[in-house]
Amino acid sequence: MSGAEQDRVRIFDTTLRDGEQSPGISLNTQEKVEIAHQLARLGVDIIEAGFPISSPGDFEAVQAIAREVHGPVICGLARANAQDVDAAWNAVRDSERPRIHTFISTSDIHIEHQLQSTRENVKGQARAAVAHARQYTEDVEFSPMDATRADLEFTAEVLQIALDEGATTINVPDTVGYSMPEEYAQMWRELYRLVPDLAKVTTSTHCHDDLGLAVANSFAGVTAGCRQVECAINGIGERAGNASLEEVVMLLRVREPAHGYWSGVDTRELARTSRLVSRMTGYQVQPNKAIVGRNAFAHESGIHQDGVLKERTTYEIMDAATVGVETNSIVLGKHSGRHALKNALEELGFQVEGQALNTAFKRFKELADKKKKVTALDLEALVSDEMRESPSAYGLEWFEVEASSSRAPLAKVGIREPGGQVVEGQFTGDGPVDAFFSAINAALGHEARLREYHVSAVTGGRDALGEVSVILEYQGRTATGQGVSTDILEASGRAYLRALTNAIADSPVAEAEHHLGQEAQQTPTP
Ligand code: KIV
Ligand code: ZN
Repeated sequence: MSGAEQDRVRIFDTTLRDGEQSPGISLNTQEKVEIAHQLARLGVDIIEAGFPISSPGDFEAVQAIAREVHGPVICGLARANAQDVDAAWNAVRDSERPRIHTFISTSDIHIEHQLQSTRENVKGQARAAVAHARQYTEDVEFSPMDATRADLEFTAEVLQIALDEGATTINVPDTVGYSMPEEYAQMWRELYRLVPDLAKVTTSTHCHDDLGLAVANSFAGVTAGCRQVECAINGIGERAGNASLEEVVMLLRVREPAHGYWSGVDTRELARTSRLVSRMTGYQVQPNKAIVGRNAFAHESGIHQDGVLKERTTYEIMDAATVGVETNSIVLGKHSGRHALKNALEELGFQVEGQALNTAFKRFKELADKKKKVTALDLEALVSDEMRESPSAYGLEWFEVEASSSRAPLAKVGIREPGGQVVEGQFTGDGPVDAFFSAINAALGHEARLREYHVSAVTGGRDALGEVSVILEYQGRTATGQGVSTDILEASGRAYLRALTNAIADSPVAEAEHHLGQEAQQTPTP
């Protein structure tokens, strides 16, 4: 960390809220908590953990994060109405540092067509929501949605109302990714002029990437005076996504001598956080993605390679180690013991004890038997995979797949249901993976449909761990699941079963049952 306090930019991570709104992403509570722990290790200032009113699953995840994750402010999103604010508060109230973030649109397009309301009503709702949130906590953020397409004077009026009611952070989003850097900075300068009270609170950017300008616009906001940037790991989020956290943070870090702004993020955790989010969401990172793409530090042309070999800075503006890019170092081998594994895992940021350590050790030994060199990347993939195992999920007990060029592949499976009972099924298919997934459907009696299937190798080499990510559709919902194994079919089966477990947990029947349970234990308002 460096620089003057007034130049510090707070990093507000919205991977678990705006990021999770990306099509096909459906993280369960355990996965969200794991990502939130990693975000805390990364050193973000605020975690927007979810939108608690949106579903019982979201409420539960935000509440679990508020209870378990220490360090950052934990924030819950709420539309500008009392019910949403109550849900957000009930979800974050157990955090050491809770925040409620409430929003309402100020653009006429949204007010007329979406809210079917009036500017007067918007002002009233903003006033009531911020006042209501302030009854619960001193940390209240307000956002005028779609503000970059709104009448600026009207937005300024709404912001003044939010400030009068006690909002402590004002975030002005470029909801549809329409703005340009100079325009966004000018909007802020004008808002500071129209609403002098903005100088007394934290102001914040929230830029979408529809024109590929999210990071540039966020930075323009910083130069205009904002000291909070809302962003998401790997740039995930609605449509084209949000400003990419790793790009914002490294722009602050690498060019600090030129602009003077800085953040408290531990940049060495960036690559790992990116891998974790990619693994959990099933959203692959493009190879040439700035900072965290696998080619971000690769040099292909002879001239570049020659230069870098002579002096790294000839073609690199940052050292890969600064962002924690793994060099695939060998960590352990076949003869390494439990203690060495525990130490290696601790170095990687995993606190694994008791039964979890036994299971991790067993899987490590199985891997070390097949693969001579077990790297940090292997361990990370393996432990993340193990952490996804849950007694309330479907498990792959055994499988057999016969494939040949002369007849249709046949798969047989034994699936452990959440109660522990093993059910069996078999099916033929167009290929071995198709047969395998159909056999799982047959065993469980569910009609899930595969939408996307992706295989990648965790490291190089023929003995590499394979990582499979699937997106499936079940009763109109999409869900993702991931699995890791040296056997691609086994990884596929695990991924499919996890996606199915997530889809069922998200299904209307499961939600209705959960609602009944919640209504029975309503939380009182103050
Ligand atoms: O893009 C947006 O306007 C949002 C708000 C809820 C802040 O995500
Ligand atoms: Zn957004």
